[in-house]
Amino acid sequence: MPEPDRAPIQRVAVLIPTYNERETLPVAVRGVRAALPEADVVVLDDASPDGTGDVADELAAADPQVHVLHRTRKEGLGAAYLAGFRWALEAGYDTLVEMDADGSHRPEHLPALLNAAEHADLVIGSRWVRGGRVVNWPLHRKALSVGGNLYVKVLLGMPVNDATAGYRVYRADALRAMGLDDVASQGYCFQADLTWRAVRGGLTVVEVPITFVEREVGQSKMSPDVATESLRRITGWGVRHRAAQLRDAAARPERWHDL
Ligand code: GDD
Ligand code: MN
Repeated sequence: MPEPDRAPIQRVAVLIPTYNERETLPVAVRGVRAALPEADVVVLDDASPDGTGDVADELAAADPQVHVLHRTRKEGLGAAYLAGFRWALEAGYDTLVEMDADGSHRPEHLPALLNAAEHADLVIGSRWVRGGRVVNWPLHRKALSVGGNLYVKVLLGMPVNDATAGYRVYRADALRAMGLDDVASQGYCFQADLTWRAVRGGLTVVEVPITFVEREVGQSKMSPDVATESLRRITGWGVRHRAAQLRDAAARPERWHDL
């Protein structure tokens, strides 16, 4: 089936959320600017107590292609990205990239991710497809990611192997079509939430293999609260999805033999 045509990629914004990343952020920004000199960088800082916001301001002062959104308090990854999306959509970018600040998302994958976005609505830098890898994750983190993705896949029936991944490319038109106004996910389940919206909306989702390298500096912000929110919300979406399927099937007795 030929892919539908998409607008050419012309203005790219790479969104980088930060909470206490003063040491890693400059390296990440430099990496993006070298790998994709045309793209702009937008740092989304949640008033990090370690002064990451000041570091971001210094980077922005030295480079007109670096912007900073200062948020007043820590509201979670999802809220930071929603604010960043709104800002970038309003500013007229046609392609929005999500990327962690801590070095786990290697800038050398950016060209392949963007190439795939010429023919997709959402491109996921995937750890769990052939060619994808995770370096230096302890067993419990691997188990959480594999288990979480399996849960999503079984419950929602999504044809995506790394629905929780945080290295992605969205086409602006796709984000507009997904309707961001009622996204409630605050933490990392924001990623699964938007994947689910894209799949349900019939958008084209493509996975490109990446090597994810665990950070060497600073700390992960993954927490029991973040994991619990994911479990609670994903279970809710799954129950609603399966109930709707049952209602659908019950309404069409002539097709029961297909079940
Ligand atoms: N603004 C803001 N607010 N940024 C945040 C917040 C927050 O509340 N929490 C985390 N971040 C930023 C971090 O500073 C970092 O740049 C990025 O989000 C990822 O945070 P990590 O804490 O390093 O995530 P991780 O390595 O444990 O998790 C990775 O895997 C998850 C599960 O697959 C990331 O790739 C996540 O995006 C992914 O969902
Ligand atoms: Mn990380």
